[in-house]
Amino acid sequence: MSNRVIVFDTTLRDGEQAPGASLNVFEKFEIARQLVKLNVDVIEAGFPVSSPAQFEAVKRISGELDVVVAGLARAKEIDIKSAYDALREGKKFRIHTFSSTSDIHILGKFSDDRYGKSLKEKRKTIIKMSYDSVAYAKTFTNDVEFSAEDAGRTDIGYLSEVIEAAIEAGATTVNIPDTTGYTFPSEFGMKISELRKRVKNINNAVISVHCHDDLGLAVANTLSGIENGARQVECTINGIGERAGNASLEEIVMALKVRKDLVKYYTKVKSEEIFNTSKMVSSFTGMIVQPNKALVGENAFAHESGIHQDGMLKNRQTYEIMKPETVGVKKTKIVLGRHSGRHGLKSRLLELGYTITEKELKRIYELFVELADKKKEVFDDDLRTMMGDQSIDKKDEFFELEYLHVIMGTNSIPSATIKIKSKENNYQESATGDGAVDACFNAIERALDIKLQLESYNVRSVTSGRQAIGEVIVRLREKDHSFTGRGISTDVIEASAKAFLQALNQHHSFLKMKEDEKMFDHSLSDLSQAV
Ligand code: KIV
Ligand code: ZN
Repeated sequence: MSNRVIVFDTTLRDGEQAPGASLNVFEKFEIARQLVKLNVDVIEAGFPVSSPAQFEAVKRISGELDVVVAGLARAKEIDIKSAYDALREGKKFRIHTFSSTSDIHILGKFSDDRYGKSLKEKRKTIIKMSYDSVAYAKTFTNDVEFSAEDAGRTDIGYLSEVIEAAIEAGATTVNIPDTTGYTFPSEFGMKISELRKRVKNINNAVISVHCHDDLGLAVANTLSGIENGARQVECTINGIGERAGNASLEEIVMALKVRKDLVKYYTKVKSEEIFNTSKMVSSFTGMIVQPNKALVGENAFAHESGIHQDGMLKNRQTYEIMKPETVGVKKTKIVLGRHSGRHGLKSRLLELGYTITEKELKRIYELFVELADKKKEVFDDDLRTMMGDQSIDKKDEFFELEYLHVIMGTNSIPSATIKIKSKENNYQESATGDGAVDACFNAIERALDIKLQLESYNVRSVTSGRQAIGEVIVRLREKDHSFTGRGISTDVIEASAKAFLQALNQHHSFLKMKEDEKMFDHSLSDLSQAV
């Protein structure tokens, strides 16, 4: 068995399932391009049957990038065919189909009698469904992956039977997900090792592991999986994903790299691209990386205490187990200013991982000049934040902020007047509030006659100084769905209004998508089966 570990990045599929992290096609494509630079082996670009937007993103990524692109599909013909239709223009692609295997999932998700009356019968049906779905996927491509959802809580005897059937049907990769992040590293590793003993055709497929972080053990479980025979890891940038997230790509890759004295496994990821990728994912998803996050957090390479600083000056190795440059953290900061031209801006953006067309450059340069007029110096983080400003992809914006006027003082009631332009109408309203931001939000809600629950509001300064860009992230909720908006400006009230409108734009796209789905050729009533 080779010691090389295949890296299957699922930032654009499982990562995007993180609450509020939805990405548009432009952002997904930009991230996918950066993942190619990072040199991952497989990019899972989405779940094509779930929505027209997911379908379009998978189609574009598969058709335009030179990497294996995977599309997710339940064990249903309709999903598999849709994944194939989205992927087919790619030179190399993978269909990834899955079925639940734990008793809890089977009894919960397959309770209908048509799957069998008893657990025993239902289990049989799942084996048949798994076999049939892999066999059907094989009619489109040789590269088929099968996942046993909730394998972490599936009894090993039954799991072995399902995996054997999937390999018999032609699965070339069999994935063992710890869907609920429930297992312990020793237990999970044992599961992989037992599968290798019990499944007689196991050598005909690559074993993959896919761990969630509900107990903070996703990376530890993944490493234990590798040590016990897994040769593919499924992970996301910054560890984003459902609930507590997925195993973090950067942590797995660097654990193997830094501790190569201890373990012989390696990936072909270009670790120097880790930092740019992390920043890009964070700014596009609006999911801020915690400062103490390993490798990519703000403090990952900061040394605060006197003793540590003194030690570092004498010998960096006293408190540093790897050079920051290994993950792409640069010591010198390049600064642009209002006199920097388009060319300088474009090449700096390229170095930060953003590939832009001449048409996009025009819009980005306008934003840059606006910013450089307010701030003397524009730092990399300002540029990244600017690239995450969804107004770059104008076509996704339904509502746009046209005008904002705020009155506030220590002894007066704050009020805001707002003018919003949409493709169909112009809206103007005023409102008061508990503070200037609240007044803005009230004015927007009144103007658009809409009310969603404000789930969270975060503001941060991207760089230092009085004219630093303020970044606001707003999350709104309606029933089971949340919508994230991100606004940037050197003025936090304007940034707040933009973020609020951006979240409403997401909400608007969601409603539109639901309408499109109704016209979509097939029923999605059973989507509860999806993870
Ligand atoms: O967590 C999970 O089980 C999944 C599968 C679809 C692979 O995401
Ligand atoms: Zn998952």
